[in-house]
Amino acid sequence: MSKRILGIESSCDETAAAVVEDGTRILSSIVSSQMATHAKYGGVVPELASREHLRAIVPAVRMALEESSTKLDDLAAIAVTQGPGLVGSLLVGMTYAKALSLARQIPLIAVNHIEGHIHAVVSQYASQYASQYASQYASQHAKGPGGPDSANGDKVELPALALVVSGGHTHLFEVREGFSYRLLGKTRDDAAGEAFDKVGKLLGFGYPGGPVIDRLAPFGNPRAVKFTLAKMKGNTLDFSFSGIKTAVLRWVEAHEMDAEIAVRRALLEQNHHPSVEEWRSLTPARTLDLLASFQYTVIEELLRRAIRSAEEIGARSLIISGGVACNVGLRTRALASRLPYPVFFPAAGLSTDNAAMIAAAAFLKFERGEFADFGLKAQANLALA
Ligand code: KG4
Ligand code: ZN
Repeated sequence: MSKRILGIESSCDETAAAVVEDGTRILSSIVSSQMATHAKYGGVVPELASREHLRAIVPAVRMALEESSTKLDDLAAIAVTQGPGLVGSLLVGMTYAKALSLARQIPLIAVNHIEGHIHAVVSQYASQYASQYASQYASQHAKGPGGPDSANGDKVELPALALVVSGGHTHLFEVREGFSYRLLGKTRDDAAGEAFDKVGKLLGFGYPGGPVIDRLAPFGNPRAVKFTLAKMKGNTLDFSFSGIKTAVLRWVEAHEMDAEIAVRRALLEQNHHPSVEEWRSLTPARTLDLLASFQYTVIEELLRRAIRSAEEIGARSLIISGGVACNVGLRTRALASRLPYPVFFPAAGLSTDNAAMIAAAAFLKFERGEFADFGLKAQANLALA
């Protein structure tokens, strides 16, 4: 009999619920975004996030059940994000999941948010998408032993190297057989998505900065501004993005950009959401060059370390997941890198925070009988591995 798991995710600024069958088939995935609430503050405001989660959680779960034609009694388990994340936000999802579980006697499963991001590519829907990329890659490159054109090109083979890159995380994990994890490197300061967001905010593009920078970068010259790559002492697989953020700030100070930044900010203050064309018309070529160069350097930092660590562990797949995995520049460069293993990105909508990835990650725990009790606590800094 197939097993349906309801996933609930509320670790940051999206309230999400989803029903996934057997860890692979996504029957519904509802994401209620709080972007509009936080945009005017230029970042996530924790108190507002909790309040919005409270408002959105019941309708999100109801919609996820309805869309998948699932009744509570059909559920094999309820999976919920335990951490890492904002404690006030996590508590909303966890309390609701516990209440449902208790009232209906449905087993409860705790999921680490980062493990969720990794599982976003393991689901069937995601791997179909990934195989599309793998076959594109295969058609672009000559056949080679163990290359992505091999028979298993559309399946994540372990050990895999997972780069989880979002607004809160920039982590490299070895994913071993049976889905156990070893942390190989992480950011020592800002996450990559955070760097995108800070640069976006600084330049007057509002929040979140990642998607806007990604869309404008192709119009600039990525080699126009030379940023130095971070040199890491100690673990050379760690990341640092505070240096490039400061370098962008210095560049802005040196180039009299106040007027253009003020115009963009004024537009956002009027609650106007400019299209890419509008942003482009308000962004001089020099600034487009800056954005393109910034993005190019961040991608370079991410891919260099991901590829080096994949080599070190003899990875058979590379998984790139989390909000920044939406970045077209990152996807394009990763797939053009002639790597001896396939690269997997989650399908659109599964890169950023969602509950389908939580329900997918829970399936293995369900099979192993790893259930949570009602003493389960939200953990803001929950580690994976
Ligand atoms: O995974 P996610 O939804 O939430 C966290 O767990 O943080 O990721 C959100 C982050 C934000 O920092 C956002 O700017 C970034 O992902 N992001 C992008 C793109 N789309 C979202 N960064 C670069 N390029 C994109 N296309
Ligand atoms: Zn996330």
